[in-house]
Amino acid sequence: YPIVVLISGSGSNLQALIDQSLQGQLDINICAVISNKAEAYGLERAKLAGIPTHTLDHKSFASRDEFDAELQTMIDQYQPKLVVLAGFMRILTETFAKHYEGRMLNIHPSLLPKYKGLNTHQRAIDAGEKEHGVSVHFVSPELDGGAVILQASTAIAEEDTAASLANKVHSLEHIIYPLAVKWFSEKRLTFHDGKAFLNGSVL
Ligand code: GRF
Repeated sequence: YPIVVLISGSGSNLQALIDQSLQGQLDINICAVISNKAEAYGLERAKLAGIPTHTLDHKSFASRDEFDAELQTMIDQYQPKLVVLAGFMRILTETFAKHYEGRMLNIHPSLLPKYKGLNTHQRAIDAGEKEHGVSVHFVSPELDGGAVILQASTAIAEEDTAASLANKVHSLEHIIYPLAVKWFSEKRLTFHDGKAFLNGSVL
C-alpha cells in the first residue's frame, strides 16, 4: 500500500510507521519521505530503513503556491494512495489540501477542536486543563480543522511541564497514528462529504 510521509523534524511518528511495517503489523510501502528541512532527523531514520528521501526547502520558493505545487509534483510521482503528515510544520494552500482531500492525514498534539496551532502542551497547562492528548484527522484547507478520526488522552499532572506532557503525548501518537493508517489501508476508514467514517459509520 503506497504512502508518502512528509516531515519537518525528529520523525518519531515516521519511525512508528516504519517499525510497525517491518514487524508486519502494517501493510504499507513508504515510497518516499519528504522534508522541508534538510536537517530533519527523520530523514536519517528513512535512510536507515532504505526509504528514498527528498528535501524541498520552502525558503527557496518565492511563494507558498510555488512551494506547494512543487511538493505536489514530487509526491505524485510516487502515486501514493495516502499522504501522511508526520510533524510537517507548514501551512498548506487550499489547492494542495483539496488535491489530497480524503487521502491525507495529519496528527495534531491536542484534543481537537481545542488548541489548534502551535505550543499546544503549554497552552493546555496554562488553561488549567485536567487532560490533554492527540488527534489524528483528515486534512482540510482549514488549519488542524479536518474531520477527526481518532484521539487519545492523558491526565495532566500537577508537576507536568510542556516537555513532560509532550513526552506522554508522543507515546500516544506512536500508537494511534499507525492504527489510523492501518484502517485507511484496509479501506475501513473512509471520507465522504467532509466526514470521516469507520466501517461505514460516521466518526
Ligand atoms: C508531533 O507532536 C505531532 O503531533 C506534531 O508534530 C510532532 C512530530 O513529532 N504534528 P515527530 O517528528 O513525529 O517526532
